[in-house]
Amino acid sequence: MDFDARMTVIQLSDGTLILHSPCEIDAPMSRALSALGRIAYIVAPGSFHYLHVPSAQAAFPEAETFICPGIERKRPDLKFDWLLGDIAPEAWAGQLDQVLVRGNRWIWEVAFFHRQTRTLILVDLVENVTDATPHTGWQLKLWWKVVFHMWNTPKPAPEYQLGWSDKKAARASLQRILQWDFERVILAHGDLIESDARKVVEKAWRKPLAGDQA
Ligand SMILES: [Fe+2]
Repeated sequence: MDFDARMTVIQLSDGTLILHSPCEIDAPMSRALSALGRIAYIVAPGSFHYLHVPSAQAAFPEAETFICPGIERKRPDLKFDWLLGDIAPEAWAGQLDQVLVRGNRWIWEVAFFHRQTRTLILVDLVENVTDATPHTGWQLKLWWKVVFHMWNTPKPAPEYQLGWSDKKAARASLQRILQWDFERVILAHGDLIESDARKVVEKAWRKPLAGDQA
């Protein structure tokens, strides 16, 4: 099924840019991004969010690539410089915080918090596909409405819901994220969450936070 994914561009205090979960970087996109600043870092933040990293590396060969642990096993041919963890690297320490979310069998990611804008940056930990989301075909509607009950209802990606295997570890990771003082959420699939962000996220993670079967 067709499923849009959002790239986030983060500007650091020195003006350099991070491409977070890059989309395909073709020539017009490369020019548009270069107009914003020097692309210094490419981040593949989740185990399903590395597909277009090679096009970003080709467009910006000087950039350093950081990947979520596990991608190196799924895609041993993917070139990278660093693995992401719970500690922000020197490149963005003090500006972005991060948590490697543990405890899932099928899917994992590193969540980020941009301190200055109080923005939580996720990929699949919350999806928010609604009537207002563009490019949603009938297959997505069918699965999201009938099977997963996540249409107009923010929830983790289905792979998360089906795979919480170490609930204690999952809960600890999610609770660390909830300690961040965020007021909005950028996510990869669906609409941004710009009001009541904390309440929306706590509700979306209700099952893993409670330790129930997700
Ligand atoms: Fe995704």
